[in-house]
Amino acid sequence: MKKILKTFTTLLIVAILQTIVVSSVAAADAEAGKIKATTCSGCHGISSYFNVYPSYRVPKIAGQNEKYLILSLEAYKVGDRKHSTMQAQAESLSKEDIADIAAWFASLK
Ligand code: HEC
Repeated sequence: MKKILKTFTTLLIVAILQTIVVSSVAAADAEAGKIKATTCSGCHGISSYFNVYPSYRVPKIAGQNEKYLILSLEAYKVGDRKHSTMQAQAESLSKEDIADIAAWFASLK
C-alpha cells in the first residue's frame, strides 16, 4: 500500500512539473508577433484580400482561429501543405515565431 502511495505521489509531482513547463513554453507573445508579421501583412493585410499584383486572391487570416493558424503554418513548414510562396515564408519561422504570429493574427478583428 505504501509503495502504491509513493508511486502515485511521484506521478502527481511529475504531472504538476509538466504543466508548469508546458505553460511557460506555450506563452505566445502577440506584440512580438505583430513585428514578426510585417512581411505577412504585405499579402494578408490588404483590403479586399487581393495581392498587390492583381492576379490572385490571398486568404484572410486576421481574426482566424489561433490553433488553425499554427497548424497551417506548421503544415507549410514541413511541406504537408503545398504552396511555394507560403512554404518559403513558413520555412524560416521557428516554433516560437509561429506561436507569436498566430497569437497576433488571432487577436485581430
Ligand atoms: C507573397 C504573398 C504572401 C506572403 C508574403 C505571405 N503569404 Fe500567407 N498566403 C499567401 C497565399 C497566396 C496563400 C494561399 C495558399 C494556399 O492556397 O495554400 C496563403 C496562405 C496562408 C495561410 C493559410 C490560410 C488558410 O485560410 O488556410 C496562413 C495561415 C498564412 N498564409 C500565413 C502567413 C504568414 C504568417 C505570413 C508571414 C510569415 C504569410 N502568410 C506571408 C500569400 C502570402
